Amino acid sequence: MSTAKKDIKKVTTHQLQEMKTRGEKISMLTAYDFSYARIIDDAGIDVILVGDSASNVMAGHDSTLPITLDHMIYHAQSVIRAIDRALVVVDLPFGSYQGNSSEALRSAIRIMKESGAHSVKLEGGSEVIESVKRILSAGIPIMGHLGLTPQSIYKFGTYTVRAKEKEEAQKLKKDALLLEEAGCFALVLEKIPAKLAKEVAASVKIPVIGIGAGNDVDGQVLVLHDMLGITKEFSPRFLRRYLNLYDEIKGAVGQYITDVKSRDFPNEKEQY
Ligand code: KIV
Repeated sequence: MSTAKKDIKKVTTHQLQEMKTRGEKISMLTAYDFSYARIIDDAGIDVILVGDSASNVMAGHDSTLPITLDHMIYHAQSVIRAIDRALVVVDLPFGSYQGNSSEALRSAIRIMKESGAHSVKLEGGSEVIESVKRILSAGIPIMGHLGLTPQSIYKFGTYTVRAKEKEEAQKLKKDALLLEEAGCFALVLEKIPAKLAKEVAASVKIPVIGIGAGNDVDGQVLVLHDMLGITKEFSPRFLRRYLNLYDEIKGAVGQYITDVKSRDFPNEKEQY
């Protein structure tokens, strides 16, 4: 490791807790490969999520269900090689933790050991609490994920806002407390009413990171390819696009094709 790397203060779960306490918002984005992880770490992102959204944006599936533990480890290894500062959280993929707590622990250990990641994330509350406790008992930090949990999309049947009704909102609040009590270091709340997210963030001491959950939470997460405008079809209300990379890249590639076909590229300075 170079000296420069050693000098950079790494983000820890403890620091995220302190950020919540002093009211400093936490920034989080997904990344799945070395090159993008390098850029967003260099930009100063606090948390990088190697999300199972890789199943959609990297592999082209229409849900997060097909991605495997081996795939997640591959993505996580690439991200870990790139980062100097950010805390790296890796999603436990569908089917790797719901069966029983021993399998959940085995999956989490594989991620930590084979990728060098700093923590894992999993979806659900009371349904997976045994797995949560077992993983935590091995010293592996967990970020919970409630609200719209894409691994359950075939149960929900739709990607619309969750927990609008009282019963589901009550369960979500209970689950948040349960995950905090078990020892999770943070929670993601996805696509729920802002008022409910605010209540949850105020009711737990651990940081709550929102996606489509309003501004009264402790931080925000977006899928990198969505906020950069690489994915075109996906435009939910909560998404802010900071670039239109799809069109920019298409334009650049179009120009390259033109330059090659017209023999403009390479010119004399671009050859040996
Ligand atoms: O996989 C993912 O990208 C996620 C975020 C949407 C929070 O879980």
